[in-house]
Amino acid sequence: MARLTINGRSLEVNVNPNTPLLWAIREQVGLTGTKYGCGVAQCGSCTVHVDGVAVRSCVMPVAAVAGKKITTIEGLATGSVLHKVQKAWLDHEVPQCGYCQAGMIMAVAALLKDKPKPTDADIDAQITNICRCGTFQQVREAIHAAAKA
Ligand code: FES
Ligand code: FES
Repeated sequence: MARLTINGRSLEVNVNPNTPLLWAIREQVGLTGTKYGCGVAQCGSCTVHVDGVAVRSCVMPVAAVAGKKITTIEGLATGSVLHKVQKAWLDHEVPQCGYCQAGMIMAVAALLKDKPKPTDADIDAQITNICRCGTFQQVREAIHAAAKA
Protein backbone atom coordinates (compact mmCIF):
# COMPACT_ATOMS: atom_id res chain seq x y z
CA MET A 1 0.00 0.00 0.00
CA ALA A 2 1.22 3.52 -0.70
CA ARG A 3 -0.41 6.92 -0.45
CA LEU A 4 0.16 9.12 -3.47
CA THR A 5 -0.93 12.65 -4.27
CA ILE A 6 -1.86 12.78 -7.94
CA ASN A 7 -3.33 15.88 -9.56
CA GLY A 8 -4.24 17.22 -6.13
CA ARG A 9 -6.01 14.05 -4.96
CA SER A 10 -4.65 11.92 -2.15
CA LEU A 11 -5.01 8.26 -3.13
CA GLU A 12 -4.16 4.87 -1.67
CA VAL A 13 -2.68 2.47 -4.19
CA ASN A 14 -2.33 -1.21 -3.52
CA VAL A 15 1.03 -1.97 -5.11
CA ASN A 16 4.45 -3.27 -4.20
CA PRO A 17 6.73 -0.31 -3.28
CA ASN A 18 9.02 -1.24 -6.16
CA THR A 19 6.24 -0.98 -8.72
CA PRO A 20 6.99 1.72 -11.29
CA LEU A 21 4.88 4.82 -10.78
CA LEU A 22 3.62 4.48 -14.36
CA TRP A 23 1.70 1.31 -13.53
CA ALA A 24 0.21 2.77 -10.35
CA ILE A 25 -0.98 5.78 -12.36
CA ARG A 26 -2.42 3.74 -15.22
CA GLU A 27 -3.67 0.56 -13.60
CA GLN A 28 -4.48 1.54 -10.02
CA VAL A 29 -5.63 5.12 -10.48
CA GLY A 30 -6.95 4.68 -14.04
CA LEU A 31 -5.29 7.73 -15.57
CA THR A 32 -4.27 6.41 -18.96
CA GLY A 33 -2.97 9.60 -20.58
CA THR A 34 0.54 8.68 -19.44
CA LYS A 35 1.88 6.12 -21.88
CA TYR A 36 4.20 3.11 -21.79
CA GLY A 37 6.76 3.19 -24.57
CA CYS A 38 10.11 1.61 -23.79
CA GLY A 39 10.06 0.92 -20.05
CA VAL A 40 13.74 1.83 -19.72
CA ALA A 41 13.76 5.65 -19.41
CA GLN A 42 14.64 6.21 -23.06
CA CYS A 43 11.55 7.43 -24.91
CA GLY A 44 9.86 9.82 -22.46
CA SER A 45 6.28 8.80 -23.25
CA CYS A 46 5.73 8.10 -19.54
CA THR A 47 6.85 11.57 -18.37
CA VAL A 48 5.00 13.07 -15.39
CA HIS A 49 5.93 15.78 -12.90
CA VAL A 50 7.07 14.95 -9.38
CA ASP A 51 7.21 18.13 -7.32
CA GLY A 52 7.29 20.05 -10.59
CA VAL A 53 10.21 18.14 -12.08
CA ALA A 54 9.79 15.98 -15.19
CA VAL A 55 10.49 12.32 -14.42
CA ARG A 56 10.17 9.12 -16.43
CA SER A 57 7.60 7.21 -14.44
CA CYS A 58 8.43 3.82 -15.97
CA VAL A 59 11.59 3.65 -13.86
CA MET A 60 10.43 5.57 -10.77
CA PRO A 61 9.39 3.24 -7.92
CA VAL A 62 6.22 4.20 -6.10
CA ALA A 63 8.18 4.20 -2.82
CA ALA A 64 10.32 7.09 -4.10
CA VAL A 65 7.37 9.41 -4.68
CA ALA A 66 5.27 8.90 -1.55
CA GLY A 67 4.46 12.29 -0.04
CA LYS A 68 5.43 14.12 -3.23
CA LYS A 69 3.16 16.01 -5.56
CA ILE A 70 2.60 14.10 -8.80
CA THR A 71 1.04 15.74 -11.84
CA THR A 72 -0.02 13.82 -14.93
CA ILE A 73 -1.25 15.14 -18.27
CA GLU A 74 -4.80 14.94 -16.89
CA GLY A 75 -3.87 17.48 -14.20
CA LEU A 76 -1.88 19.95 -16.30
CA ALA A 77 -4.77 22.23 -17.26
CA THR A 78 -6.40 24.41 -14.63
CA GLY A 79 -10.01 23.31 -14.79
CA SER A 80 -11.14 24.06 -18.33
CA VAL A 81 -8.22 26.44 -18.97
CA LEU A 82 -5.49 24.69 -20.93
CA HIS A 83 -1.85 25.04 -19.94
CA LYS A 84 -0.01 27.32 -22.38
CA VAL A 85 1.90 24.32 -23.74
CA GLN A 86 -1.35 22.48 -24.49
CA LYS A 87 -2.68 25.58 -26.21
CA ALA A 88 0.47 25.98 -28.33
CA TRP A 89 0.23 22.29 -29.25
CA LEU A 90 -3.27 22.81 -30.59
CA ASP A 91 -2.38 26.05 -32.38
CA HIS A 92 0.60 24.40 -34.10
CA GLU A 93 -1.15 21.07 -34.74
CA VAL A 94 1.75 19.17 -33.20
CA PRO A 95 0.32 15.68 -32.60
CA GLN A 96 0.24 13.04 -35.30
CA CYS A 97 -0.67 9.62 -33.84
CA GLY A 98 -0.50 11.26 -30.41
CA TYR A 99 1.12 8.38 -28.55
CA CYS A 100 4.21 10.27 -27.38
CA GLN A 101 2.50 13.59 -26.90
CA ALA A 102 1.40 13.50 -23.27
CA GLY A 103 4.96 12.79 -22.22
CA MET A 104 6.29 15.40 -24.63
CA ILE A 105 3.93 18.07 -23.27
CA MET A 106 4.80 17.25 -19.66
CA ALA A 107 8.52 17.46 -20.44
CA VAL A 108 8.04 20.82 -22.18
CA ALA A 109 5.90 22.24 -19.35
CA ALA A 110 8.71 21.41 -16.91
CA LEU A 111 11.31 22.92 -19.24
CA LEU A 112 9.39 26.22 -19.49
CA LYS A 113 9.01 26.37 -15.72
CA ASP A 114 12.79 26.09 -15.44
CA LYS A 115 13.68 28.17 -18.49
CA PRO A 116 10.82 30.44 -19.57
CA LYS A 117 12.62 31.41 -22.80
CA PRO A 118 14.52 28.30 -23.88
CA THR A 119 16.97 28.43 -26.78
CA ASP A 120 17.13 25.70 -29.41
CA ALA A 121 20.15 24.35 -27.53
CA ASP A 122 18.11 24.20 -24.29
CA ILE A 123 15.38 22.34 -26.16
CA ASP A 124 17.85 19.89 -27.67
CA ALA A 125 19.43 19.26 -24.28
CA GLN A 126 16.26 18.82 -22.26
CA ILE A 127 13.58 17.52 -24.59
CA THR A 128 14.94 14.10 -25.41
CA ASN A 129 11.53 12.46 -25.84
CA ILE A 130 11.21 10.24 -28.88
CA CYS A 131 8.40 10.73 -31.40
CA ARG A 132 8.04 7.95 -33.96
CA CYS A 133 5.90 10.26 -36.11
CA GLY A 134 8.72 12.81 -36.32
CA THR A 135 6.91 15.84 -34.92
CA PHE A 136 10.16 17.38 -33.69
CA GLN A 137 9.99 20.52 -35.84
CA GLN A 138 6.40 21.27 -34.78
CA VAL A 139 7.39 20.57 -31.17
CA ARG A 140 10.17 23.13 -31.41
CA GLU A 141 7.88 25.75 -32.97
CA ALA A 142 5.22 25.17 -30.36
CA ILE A 143 7.76 25.46 -27.53
CA HIS A 144 8.88 28.85 -28.81
CA ALA A 145 5.23 29.93 -29.21
CA ALA A 146 4.38 28.81 -25.66
CA ALA A 147 7.44 30.69 -24.37
CA LYS A 148 6.01 33.90 -25.86
CA ALA A 149 2.49 33.32 -24.49
S1 FES B 1 8.22 4.31 -21.20
FE1 FES B 1 9.31 5.51 -19.79
S2 FES B 1 10.88 6.43 -20.93
FE2 FES B 1 9.91 5.09 -22.34
S1 FES C 1 2.91 11.83 -32.49
FE1 FES C 1 3.10 9.73 -32.99
S2 FES C 1 4.77 9.04 -31.77
FE2 FES C 1 4.77 11.17 -31.54
